[in-house]
Amino acid sequence: MAHAVMPVSEIADKARHVYEQVFGGNPPEVEVCAPGRVNLIGEHTDYNDGFVLPMALPLVTVVVGSRTSDQVVNILTANEEVEEPRKVDFNLPTDELTLSPGQPKWANYVKGVVQHYRAHPLPGFRAVIASSVPLGGGLSSSASLEVAIYTFLQQLNPDDGDKVAKAVACQQAEHTHAGVPCGIMDQFVSVMGKAGHALLIDCRSLEATPVPLSEPGLVILITNSNVKHSLSGSEYPTRRRQCEEAAAMLRKSSLRDATMADLEEARSQLDDVTYCRARHVIEEIERTARAAEALRRGSYKEFGKLMVESHNSLRDLYEVSCRELDELVSAAMEVDGVFGSRMTGGGFGGCTVTLLQAHATDKAILHIQSLPWDVERDEICMNGFQQTQSVNTEQYSGTPTFYVTTPSEGVRVLKPVMT
Ligand code: GLA
Repeated sequence: MAHAVMPVSEIADKARHVYEQVFGGNPPEVEVCAPGRVNLIGEHTDYNDGFVLPMALPLVTVVVGSRTSDQVVNILTANEEVEEPRKVDFNLPTDELTLSPGQPKWANYVKGVVQHYRAHPLPGFRAVIASSVPLGGGLSSSASLEVAIYTFLQQLNPDDGDKVAKAVACQQAEHTHAGVPCGIMDQFVSVMGKAGHALLIDCRSLEATPVPLSEPGLVILITNSNVKHSLSGSEYPTRRRQCEEAAAMLRKSSLRDATMADLEEARSQLDDVTYCRARHVIEEIERTARAAEALRRGSYKEFGKLMVESHNSLRDLYEVSCRELDELVSAAMEVDGVFGSRMTGGGFGGCTVTLLQAHATDKAILHIQSLPWDVERDEICMNGFQQTQSVNTEQYSGTPTFYVTTPSEGVRVLKPVMT
């Protein structure tokens, strides 16, 4: 069955407990939490100035901690699945010292946010991180950590409170310290998410429109394939570059400004791959605007159809899906009461998102689980599953896992600093 989502208070208790054990003394003076996200539609459109439609999740990263009187950051993660060491210290940046990324990787998100924070000087601090967002599962565990750390720093030394600038600073941290040239979607929705709503974000103007999504008969089911492909590292920047090249060929500042007519006109000047990438983006931007409209009208069937079209385009034109995600989507679509399903996030593993009637949830989960997940990949082929692309699996941890989720609030201060 679906994973019960751990209440925020429980994660905060865990973080506080670890803090007191490791650092001793007084309890942490500040506690914050920031959510992961799931994107309902609008994939690989954010860095093309397009539309996205994500929602914040009840899965969160909590940061608890206190100021110190020195210039040192002491940070520990309570998440056991990250690489060692789980406790790190470093000096605050100065005019002469820039924090650079290193090992362990999880600490780079903290360093990046400290470096890009918009109100220096910061005091030294000690803090503990605890998260219920599955790490590296395509639900923005990294953005939730960045936004949580930024919000924690705001308590220690407030900036001007500009929320868009905050999301952009966290995105910068990801660019410079995690080496991922991501768009703005994940950090933006982790900051601005609204309970009971998806967020239609215009990634050009950085304006967001909440779209109600709280009908009791409706469920948003996330299925984690628990697959991570080693391809993902290099493929994301490659896609981004291909889009920029396509926009340049079309003499547009971004693919947001291009139409399918523009693309067809330039067809002969583009190689097939660039054409396909650009086509996905141009159509997906339009599809996302239509999907938001459909959601506003409560036309879930139409929304679901657009989700499947999005998935097929990501699979065939943008080539960021993988066999496991395709299998999850096909299996979900076989169940009565399912409106739509698609891969979500960057791709090459991670999760699918499925919109369905609440009464169909158990049936959908059971049906997906009944696929032969826990056999070797080769045997799956022999069992009659079609292999659509070569499998390059770094990590495969057996069966998929499920989350029944509701659109949740963006970042929150659980315990503000006492002044
Ligand atoms: C990752 C990035 C986002 C976005 C998605 C694809 O999650 O962090 O900015 O580009 O991939 O839609």
